[in-house]
Amino acid sequence: MDYKNLVSKAFEGRKNAYAPYSNFKVGAAVLAEDGKVYTGCNIENASYGATNCAERTAIFKAISEGNRAIKAIAIVGVENDYTYPCGVCRQVIAEFASKDAEIILGKGESEYIVKTLDELLPGAFTKEDLNK
Ligand code: THU
Repeated sequence: MDYKNLVSKAFEGRKNAYAPYSNFKVGAAVLAEDGKVYTGCNIENASYGATNCAERTAIFKAISEGNRAIKAIAIVGVENDYTYPCGVCRQVIAEFASKDAEIILGKGESEYIVKTLDELLPGAFTKEDLNK
């Protein structure tokens, strides 16, 4: 699948990043199962721990709009390298990722790599574990 458009949307989300403390701007774009795209950015806080990552902003927007299944999520940080999702975001992606969901790491507008959740979070703890 061509994820150029989703990466471009992640860059659009990045424009709204609020990162006065780290100066590290991140953008994300979630492709929901019904085809809708939700963008997100990191939102920092003077109380650093209250910071929200770009991926979670985008995912929470999708969930709060009623879209429960993520087909793909694109993430962009610095433009000269790939920015991988942090551990907390990997866990949140795992909660809502549809089977075979893809995680796209963008470097430039048309340069990206595609990963699976199993590659980024092998042996994930999920809701199925709660029923064991
Ligand atoms: N950040 C994200 O938005 N996503 C990640 O997966 C990695 C980290 C943000 C959080 C913080 O605002 C800044 O990058 C530096 O950690």
